[in-house]
Amino acid sequence: MADAFMRSLPVDVRLWREDIQGSRAYARALVGAGVLTATEAEQIDRGLQSIAEEMESGRALPEGSEDIHMAIEARLIEKIGPLGGKLHTGRSRNDQVALDLRLYVRDAADRLDHALNRLQQALTVRAEEHLDTILPGYTHTQRAQPVLLAHHLLAYVEMLRRDRGRVKDAARRADESPLGSGALAGSGFPLDRERLARDLGFARATANSLDAVSDRDFVVELLSAVTLVMIHLSRLSAEIVAWTGAEYGFAELPDSLASGSSMMPNKKNPCAAELVRARTGRVTGDLVAMLMVIKGLPLAYNRDLQEDKEALFDGVDTGLAALEVTTSLVDGIRFNPAAMRAAALGGYSLATEAADYLTRRGIPFREAHRIAGQAVAQAIAAGKPLEELSLAEWQRLSPVADAGLFEHLTLESAIKARAVLGGTARSRVEEAIERAKA
Ligand code: ARG
Repeated sequence: MADAFMRSLPVDVRLWREDIQGSRAYARALVGAGVLTATEAEQIDRGLQSIAEEMESGRALPEGSEDIHMAIEARLIEKIGPLGGKLHTGRSRNDQVALDLRLYVRDAADRLDHALNRLQQALTVRAEEHLDTILPGYTHTQRAQPVLLAHHLLAYVEMLRRDRGRVKDAARRADESPLGSGALAGSGFPLDRERLARDLGFARATANSLDAVSDRDFVVELLSAVTLVMIHLSRLSAEIVAWTGAEYGFAELPDSLASGSSMMPNKKNPCAAELVRARTGRVTGDLVAMLMVIKGLPLAYNRDLQEDKEALFDGVDTGLAALEVTTSLVDGIRFNPAAMRAAALGGYSLATEAADYLTRRGIPFREAHRIAGQAVAQAIAAGKPLEELSLAEWQRLSPVADAGLFEHLTLESAIKARAVLGGTARSRVEEAIERAKA
């Protein structure tokens, strides 16, 4: 019972590749330290390679091992005899697991970067298709000002750009080799740790053995980057859910990305988007679990740290799956430009254009804002859109109004006027698409 409670093999078996990679490099370093002869190191290396082949073909590791490190060592000794027992000279599972985890994080960061890039590309492709599609931009979920659908989609490309930066940053700080730190005090054998680090493709070796075996802040950093990815995906998901509902009618999902109801034949549910939104909570939980594992731990290694893996693996798996399904949603969603345009025209979202126009005619903005507000109230009372108020009606509100006003009261001119850097004018959005492609 206690054994089962303490065993980590069912979880950390996933680290077998990293564990073998680390051990092969370590065997080479032991030759440099005078512990192994070149022939012994070669024999160990061949043994480790054949264990990798066994794992690749699905062969189970010896029964009863506590963790992946013990299991691979046991199998090595089964295969090559007592020589296998020399591999662990000057090494501890404490520096070994810290190494495996950093190798895993490095690879996970790469996979996340690719998945984020693919989603950015999917969004950019859809943005380019919709450079002429106008929808209401919202604040407080109220129709506010018209924007291009391309501009809306590119907002997510920006979020994902920062996400990629955070993932890279986490990987950059994880890029140190702890191997040679031993259990906590540093190995008692003269290993060339810098060379070992380079051999494993790390930028450098860690500087303090106590820190190296007990620090997991690189796991926290990656999980925190993935949590923000999920938070961003949950926002996009919420929009997909809203937009595909009848109240918006802005988009439709292909059948392959929606699911039916077991009871209501009319339903086409955006379940994939809803589940991405829900799993954001799960990944946030992984991050919090990891933070709580580290909190209050005295130096150096403590067994608490074994709990790092479930949180890390789950966060990375969930993040990658959510990115993949969101990319399919973005690829497959069909937008409804006519519904978007009707909504943009329907919400008095050109009121700011009227105020800006009056301001350009010399009226202080605060006053122009009041006049345009009165115009909106009159139009609502008359049951017509703002652009259908007559010139005479405008002039009763403000004598500076002239026929030029009406040129500003179109969706196209409202978009065109927002040509400031970062604005929704087509020229700016085209620039943003070029940047996104580069
Ligand atoms: N399974 C352990 C972990 O994942 C490996 C290190 C165990 N070290 C020890 N001294 N018991 O953290």
